[in-house]
Amino acid sequence: MRERERERAKQGKTDRTMATRKIIIDTDPGQDDSVAILIALGSPHELEVVAIVSVAGNVPLWRTTENALKVTDLAGRPDVPVYAGCARPMRRQPITAEHVHGTTGINGVDLAPASRPAQDQHGVDFLIDTLRASEPGEITLCVLGPITNVAMAMVKAPDITGRIAEIVWMAGAYFEVGNITPTAEFNVYVDPEAADVVVKSGVKLTMVPLDVTHRALATHERLDRFRALGNRAGQAVADMLNFSERFDLGKYGWIGAPLHDPCVIAYLLQPEIFVGRHINVEIELAGTYTTGMTVADWWGVSKRPANVTYLRDVDADAFFSLLVERVGRLP
Ligand code: BDR
Ligand code: CA
Repeated sequence: MRERERERAKQGKTDRTMATRKIIIDTDPGQDDSVAILIALGSPHELEVVAIVSVAGNVPLWRTTENALKVTDLAGRPDVPVYAGCARPMRRQPITAEHVHGTTGINGVDLAPASRPAQDQHGVDFLIDTLRASEPGEITLCVLGPITNVAMAMVKAPDITGRIAEIVWMAGAYFEVGNITPTAEFNVYVDPEAADVVVKSGVKLTMVPLDVTHRALATHERLDRFRALGNRAGQAVADMLNFSERFDLGKYGWIGAPLHDPCVIAYLLQPEIFVGRHINVEIELAGTYTTGMTVADWWGVSKRPANVTYLRDVDADAFFSLLVERVGRLP
């Protein structure tokens, strides 16, 4: 607890309600990452966004950093610091996804130039310093891209692992298999070594895989609800998701794009609308065809110890209603 908070607590006053959870968002925006950031910033009673850390993923690091700055501006929250993290995975060359997200990563909108630069400190060092200065269990990490920064922080400073309340990560696929390869989901495939460090770390970890996000489709009717809000955030969400739709329509023939990363924030806000199991998940590091696969032991056949809460389903109508409500609170 910081000195001022300690003092106010002694006087029976608090700056945050007891229910407010401190989160750091680690992200590679990305249209769906951007919507997740907006939902988090639209939920100040439940979530305090301490900072955003960017990572190379959907597009190169300089773009994900720039996009995170622009999206916080869009939400009217230039006070949220943005730290640039790792520019490439731990061991592999970067893989990007402009074919899905467009050249900027957030094609579909043309947001105003960022009002300020990113912080000077490296994102990994920020994670280490912030977790070391926090009480154990005080900070939750919401990871929306390759998990390079978190794994690097765990390697550089193993003592931080026990201080993390929980990691909720959009990652993996089992029943839906893969999206970037036949068997691997993008966020794991880009940096499987980082994923391996984190699933073996003993940290409380919840995975939000494609098995869930492919059930949260941004249909035209749902996009219209964002547009009808009449605020600039609602319009931007509709425009970004309208762009994302192209890729998934062509690939899956669905009626809307799956909304991956906002599921992480929605899980923190309304866990009761998700269903999952505590199971063993291992990362395939050296498969001939299966590198980056999340080997999820849903049926418990391996007898390996459970290390992940693996989500499997979501009430999509409740999810979109929550999103619309939270985006509606923004400028
Ligand atoms: C994940 O990959 C990215 O393209 C999305 O932003 C999401 O985090 C889905 O596989
Ligand atoms: Ca992402």
